[in-house]
Amino acid sequence: MPPQLVKILNDSYQAVKNDGQDVIAGLTKNPKTLPPKYFYDDYGSELFEQICALPEYYPTRTETSILKEYANEISELTGSRELVELGSGSSTKTRLLLDAYQKIGNSFTYIPTDVSGGILKTSVLELQEKYPYFSIQGLLGTYQQTLAYLESTPKALRTICFLGSSAGNFSPQEFDNLLTKVTRSLQPGNYFLLGIDLDKSQEILEPAYNDSEGVTAAFNLNMLSHLNWRFQGNFDLDVFNHKAIYNQAESQIEMRLYCQENVTFSLETLDLKVNFQAGESIMTEISRKFDLGILQTKLEAKELKLKKVWTDPKKWFGLILCQA
Ligand code: AVI
Repeated sequence: MPPQLVKILNDSYQAVKNDGQDVIAGLTKNPKTLPPKYFYDDYGSELFEQICALPEYYPTRTETSILKEYANEISELTGSRELVELGSGSSTKTRLLLDAYQKIGNSFTYIPTDVSGGILKTSVLELQEKYPYFSIQGLLGTYQQTLAYLESTPKALRTICFLGSSAGNFSPQEFDNLLTKVTRSLQPGNYFLLGIDLDKSQEILEPAYNDSEGVTAAFNLNMLSHLNWRFQGNFDLDVFNHKAIYNQAESQIEMRLYCQENVTFSLETLDLKVNFQAGESIMTEISRKFDLGILQTKLEAKELKLKKVWTDPKKWFGLILCQA
C-alpha cells in the first residue's frame, strides 16, 4: 500500500504522552475504571462492526436511515470540499455522505481518522477504489492527536463529522474539551456534524448493550486481551463477566466487567499489580444519552451555532449540523 494513504500521527501531535498512564490511573482508583479507547485494537474494531449489525443495537441502523434520507441536503447545505471524520472505523455510514458530496463534483478530500490501524488501512484502500477522484488521507491517532494535527493544516471548506454517538463515550468534561478542539480545527463558516443517541427508556437501552448473542460481552472482555498484549499482562478473561446497566439519573449506560474471584493480575511493562476482590468491577465505558436542548446550549457555548437537526420518526437518534 502506498504509505501516504495513512499518516501515522505521533506524540508531537499530542499534548500528553500516553504510555499507559491512563491505565495505571484507572486501575489504581476505587472504583476501578479503564478508558474506552482500549476497546479498539484490530479485533475490538471488528467486534464493534458486529455490534453495529445486531438486532438489539438500534443506533447504527437509525443513524444510517437518517443519513440515507438527508445526506444530499447535508452536502448541499455545507458545500464542503473536505470531510474529516473522527473515529471513522469502517466508514460504512459515511459512504452515504461521500456519495452525496460526489454528486456536487469538484475536487474533494476525505480524511478518515482512527486509533485502529488495521480497519483504517482497509477502509482507505476500499474507499480510494470506490471514489477514485477523491483525495483520501487516513490519519492514525487518538482524537487529541488528530485534532492537534488538523488545527495546523488549511481549513477552507472543511466539515468535521463525529458520527455514531461516540461523543456519548466521553465524560461531560472530556466532551467539553473535545468541542474546544473541534472549534479550533475549524475556521468561521466551517461545519461540525454530530451524530448523537437521544435519551429513551431502559427497556430499549439495556438490551442494546447486553445483546443475546454475547457480542457486546466479547467486545468488553477484549479490552483485557488488548491490555494483555499491549502491556504484557496476565488478565484471565474467564474470571470476568460483562454487564451494562442504565443509570437513569445520569442518562447513561454504564458498562462494567465484574471479577468473580479474589485475585491479582499484573501488567508487566507498566510495573503494575492489580488486586481484585470477588464481585469488584471495572467500569469500561459510559454511553451518554442526550437531550437536544441541553446539547444545543453546550455547542453554542463553544461557538458552534446550530444550523439544523435531523432525526428519525421515533426520535431515537439525532444528527446535528453546527456552523463555526
Ligand atoms: C462507539 N460507541 C458509540 C458505542 C456506544 O454505543 O456507546 C460503543 C458500544 N459499546 C457497547 N456497544 C457499543
